[in-house]
Amino acid sequence: MLGADSMKDSRQGKCRIAVMVSGGGTNLQAVIDGVKDGTITNTEIAGVISNNKNAYALARAQENHIPSRCVSPKDYESRAVFNEKLMEAVDELAPDLVVLAGFLVVIPPEMIRKYRNRMINIHPSLIPSFCGTGYYGLKVHEAALARGVKLTGATVHFVDEGTDTGPIILQKAVEVQQGDTPEVLQRRVMEQAEWKILPRAIDLIANGKVTVQDNRTVIGG
Ligand code: GRF
Repeated sequence: MLGADSMKDSRQGKCRIAVMVSGGGTNLQAVIDGVKDGTITNTEIAGVISNNKNAYALARAQENHIPSRCVSPKDYESRAVFNEKLMEAVDELAPDLVVLAGFLVVIPPEMIRKYRNRMINIHPSLIPSFCGTGYYGLKVHEAALARGVKLTGATVHFVDEGTDTGPIILQKAVEVQQGDTPEVLQRRVMEQAEWKILPRAIDLIANGKVTVQDNRTVIGG
């Protein structure tokens, strides 16, 4: 059994988190706001890393005086070198927890191993629905609307070698409404689910309340 308990025991100070982003950064903003307003306790954002130099998420980090940098595959001669540089950038932050908040780059296998049960991802559906290869961003909501589900939502899970397959930590359901477009549904899932369960999951982990047994999480009291 490995998870936040061991992290809590080994950690002296606050839980250091590294947030990895690729786009607008609304989930990053929810985490920044959560740390500020006390929704997320015992936590500090050590830094933000993006693969996209134009990600507005980087501006959000800078506005909040959080160290940020871009590590782009375009800047390296091979994926192997990029993977190495990405891992170096994460390691330099010495995070207790890595948070993938809309990070659209495949995580190197060695990084998944190193941060097993210490790396989480937010996915905009109720896993195992509408997830896995090819299901990201608006495509998730297009699939939910095409299937005609009445409930969708979001999931926070630990990252393992699969795509959206790691132990589930939190989920929150959101109603699909008549006439929803993918964009309208995406926004509702963000507002009502993602921006609530990602901060909550970080707070639980930062306070040693999440462990993993037989590839399923146990959320402690
Ligand atoms: C969110 O919809 C999240 O569920 C998905 O990527 C999107 C990121 O949005 N993983 P933002 O960059 O946090 O605004």
